[in-house]
Amino acid sequence: MRTLLSEAELNAGVQKLASEIDSHYGIRPLTVIAIMTGSLVLFADLIRRLSMPQRVGVVQASSYRGGTTSGQLQVDDAMMIEVKGRDVLLVDDIFDTGKTLDRVSGMMLEHGATSVQTAVLLHKLTQHSVEMRPDFVAFEIPDEFVVGYGLDYLDMYRNLPYLAVLSPAEIEATAAESET
Ligand code: IMP
Ligand code: MG
Repeated sequence: MRTLLSEAELNAGVQKLASEIDSHYGIRPLTVIAIMTGSLVLFADLIRRLSMPQRVGVVQASSYRGGTTSGQLQVDDAMMIEVKGRDVLLVDDIFDTGKTLDRVSGMMLEHGATSVQTAVLLHKLTQHSVEMRPDFVAFEIPDEFVVGYGLDYLDMYRNLPYLAVLSPAEIEATAAESET
């Protein structure tokens, strides 16, 4: 595995993200929503660095059906908290095709959110399939498949404290391992 961002670099990036969000919202109360499961690690680090009063919730979205390419997007809002009349910040691990954040932003507006903005750890420099772009980004990365700091391949590697690029051989080995 090739390290793309070290633990120290990730820390600095999350701190910068938090400062930008703080300057934007000031002390206005914010409803911060994690898009599970990829944003789990970022979310825990980010919300503790934000200064405003927060309400915290989660929604589940998944688009990777067992591979490294994007599949059918499924969103489960069963655990969602009230967003009506509130300023919402959606937090996700990575902006790739953009479909997830585009869809979940729309859902928040449908549920009556006053405003919706989005924050991501990573912005993949690739062809996006939606018009929207994330409002707050910690790092721009090349179009490679990455794992760690919450991001997975077949539900593995989320616990790595750094971000790494999986080589095609490692992708194959993980897939073979998963079948056993
Ligand atoms: P989007 O809807 O295509 O923007 O995809 C966003 C979701 O795809 C993210 O929340 C991740 O779970 C997943 N994803 C996209 N690229 C990667 C990657 O390089 N590694 C792991 N997961 C990824
Ligand atoms: Mg995800």
